[in-house]
Amino acid sequence: MANNQTYQHYIGAQWVAPSSGEYFQSTNPATLAVLYSAARGNAEDVAKAVESSQAAFEDPRWRDLSQTKRGHLLRRLGDLIGEHAEELARMETLDNGKLLREMRAQLSTLPEYYYYYAGLADKIQGDVIPASDKRVLNYTMREPLGVVGAITPWNSPLTLTTSKLAPALAAGNTMVIKPSEYTSATVLRLAELATEAGFPPGVVNVVTGFGAEAGAALVEHPKLAKISFTGSTLTGSRIAASAASRFIGTTLELGGKSPNIVFGDADVANASMGVVAGIFAAAGQTCIAGSRVFAHKSIYDELLERVTERARSIVIGDPLDDLTELGPLAFADQRDKVAGYVDLGVSEGARVLTGGRRSDGGLGGFFYEPTVLTDVDNSMRVVREEIFGPVAAIMPFETEEEVLRLANDTDYGLAAGLWTQNLSRAHRMASKLEAGTIWVNTYRAMSPMSPRQGFKNSGVGVEHGTETMREYTRLKSVWINTNEEPVADPFIMRS
Ligand code: NAI
Ligand code: MG
Repeated sequence: MANNQTYQHYIGAQWVAPSSGEYFQSTNPATLAVLYSAARGNAEDVAKAVESSQAAFEDPRWRDLSQTKRGHLLRRLGDLIGEHAEELARMETLDNGKLLREMRAQLSTLPEYYYYYAGLADKIQGDVIPASDKRVLNYTMREPLGVVGAITPWNSPLTLTTSKLAPALAAGNTMVIKPSEYTSATVLRLAELATEAGFPPGVVNVVTGFGAEAGAALVEHPKLAKISFTGSTLTGSRIAASAASRFIGTTLELGGKSPNIVFGDADVANASMGVVAGIFAAAGQTCIAGSRVFAHKSIYDELLERVTERARSIVIGDPLDDLTELGPLAFADQRDKVAGYVDLGVSEGARVLTGGRRSDGGLGGFFYEPTVLTDVDNSMRVVREEIFGPVAAIMPFETEEEVLRLANDTDYGLAAGLWTQNLSRAHRMASKLEAGTIWVNTYRAMSPMSPRQGFKNSGVGVEHGTETMREYTRLKSVWINTNEEPVADPFIMRS
């Protein structure tokens, strides 16, 4: 990525200047170097993009394309992402500070998402319904919705955008994407690659800018058929309210405060690694972070020691360096938020076993040390609210019933991890935990094939798997009278 490059909106396969003439800067959170400027979108820019996507939706080049050919385009886009994986991974690392190692791993599997939905494009079909009456033929069809708006966050820009884009395109929709103002570059590049893959102009449009301007304008645009969002629960609830007032559907993937539960019969060495991965990978900036750790009394001390020891040895530094284990937080406010929560926890009575300090990572960036808090409980805000940083709250428990109650005592329900060698307990807990994804003796596993849904304040709707196709289609029921008899006069009652 060239320094001080300027990006415009990507609308109708063209670079389009912002109508305000204004741009905003994106910086590297590890070094604070300015990376590029992006167009500051407003309602006028959003209207242009939605109209372009609406025209593309009605354009025979897209509307009449066979499902097989839609699949071909998705496969081609997957190939192009694979070919550009290194470039895209580096761009994301420079932009959000996540480890290059992690972004490389994400980008190298990202084509699989496109291949998966390419394979589903020609399997979107309806049913023939018995409908009780042998003289009618009743069948259903699944149709695309129209222009889908996607609003995405900064933590995994391309992966989280793809979870929406690939199924939406497989179903025949068009999409306007508003990426996070912290990470505009790779999503713009993705739209360019979609054109290169052969998607007609306007099928994938990108308007960059701030949430309250470009994001809100997109959500409020009257022609939008649906809004798909990943981000904070607060913004999600605003979007849901706006969408509800116009009766358009939403898919919302929101925050989490996921429990990671270690039973007394667990392999504690494995579980410790699972706890560390759950909260310190990606510097805790993931919706699925295992931020509430519950450890059985019998292994509590050992787990605490192992996790704390590993946390102390985590290598903080340049996310481009292969030896680095923890990069910066993505921007200044995000680090202030994390630091503020740890201070709040301490004032509520928490003890900091390790971490609890800002760091410049030797580069001047927005780093924060991996932090372990104890002497915490479910009444404290650090245990109840999403911190979105490398902060683990570790709590002891005695019985299965107790930990189930504690784990479920949360407003969120995105994911839960449990570590045990007891098969019956694993299934029992999996069925009783109130979360859309349950991991047993692993954490953070994910696949385009596996559906996931946030329970409670963690979201609405399903992402991934065949299930998500329902989020991007509408159902039509068609009744055909196959009977040659004259249609009876409805006002003459026959017995
Ligand atoms: P956010 O939810 O405000 O932003 C996510 C996206 O929504 C961005 O593209 C943003 O521009 C857009 N947006 C913001 N306000 C909007 C509005 N009124 N209408 C339409 N779009 C809007 O999250 P932000 O500010 O990036 O991060 C704040 C906190 O949110 C984090 O500290 C973290 O706790 C949480 N978060 C959670 C994520 C998750 O995956 N669960 C992802 C990102 C943030
Ligand atoms: Mg940035």
